[in-house]
Amino acid sequence: MSSSNIFVTRPSLPPLAEFVPYLERIWDSGILTNGGQMHRELETALAAHLRVPQISLFGNGTIALVAALKVLELEGEVITTPFSFVATTHALKWNGLEPAFADIDPVTLNIDPARIEERITERTSAILAVHCYGNPCDVDAIEAIARRHGLKVIYDAAHAFGVDCHCGSVLTHGDLSVLSFHATKVFSTLEGGAIVAPDAEMKGRIDRSKNFGIVSETEVESVGINGKMNEVQAAFGLLQLRRIDAAIAARARVAARYDAGLAGIAGIEPVPSSGQIRANHAYYPVRVRPSFPVDRDTLYEALKARGIFSRRYFYPLISDLPMYRDLPSADPAGLPAARAAGAEVLCLPIYPDLSEAEQDRVIEAITEVGR
Ligand SMILES: Cc1ncc(COP(=O)(O)O)c(C=O)c1O
Repeated sequence: MSSSNIFVTRPSLPPLAEFVPYLERIWDSGILTNGGQMHRELETALAAHLRVPQISLFGNGTIALVAALKVLELEGEVITTPFSFVATTHALKWNGLEPAFADIDPVTLNIDPARIEERITERTSAILAVHCYGNPCDVDAIEAIARRHGLKVIYDAAHAFGVDCHCGSVLTHGDLSVLSFHATKVFSTLEGGAIVAPDAEMKGRIDRSKNFGIVSETEVESVGINGKMNEVQAAFGLLQLRRIDAAIAARARVAARYDAGLAGIAGIEPVPSSGQIRANHAYYPVRVRPSFPVDRDTLYEALKARGIFSRRYFYPLISDLPMYRDLPSADPAGLPAARAAGAEVLCLPIYPDLSEAEQDRVIEAITEVGR
């Protein structure tokens, strides 16, 4: 791995010396997990920062998704998007739920409300939507459909840390929203995740569910799991939170430079930001249109040959994977917009410390391949 390689993302690491006092506090307390002081502090700080009523921390985003679906006691089929990271659909299968794939909007790349309605059957219990790349879903339309048909709504908000839509934090929509704090995300706790809940009663259920369903020494209320975040993870999160605004501002500068630098290249179209009042610039996805001289995969390989490691999020589509492709809703004929996005989207390197020189290398490489 050459030092001049440029990856799609790189975790922001604060100076190690700033982490040491947090570790000293953990050592002094002798408490390493099970809701220690770091955990309590991070929950309080995140609820305030994100302006959400309740938040429960988890050891990773996938287990948070699994637990969110479990506490809502869903059955039968759940309508979801094929254009996401595989964890979205896997979380349904871990709950014994059947995914029903609905196509995405060809512009926003989020699940298309009109296509959701077509997939509703008498076995449908919920909608699991994803704020893809941090672009808010059409939350009003989705919630209207859910109300009409008596469905629950869960948002996979793994990409949507700190994103605001027309009515404040996008995380307050639906029955529950689930975040990922993986090392590659805008806000990280090394591995980690969270569920945003509307009230203390629901938070209580979620908290017990991530602790084996335990209520007291002698009482277990549900088939819970171990989804707890430990104290070192929570401490890392507290440290990250101190710099999060600067980190997102740095991402915004990178995004603006791409907007300008790629503007003249025919066939390279940034996926539009849609619906945010405040974006987090978690990704910089572009579509490689047929008017570009080579296709997306050829561009991806050409960049790789130049030491630039972009990512084809999300390819292959989840609905094309062996464990899902035989579902009736996975039929490619019913998912044309997802198919096109899966073939055309490329996520370019973006992270707070990406230098202008490195970014110029990416822009120049795309320009060169496009000549
Ligand atoms: C859309 C989406 N959902 C779920 C996850 C799973 O989160 P985690 O890696 O924290 O388990 C991720 C990212 O990894 C993701 O991008």
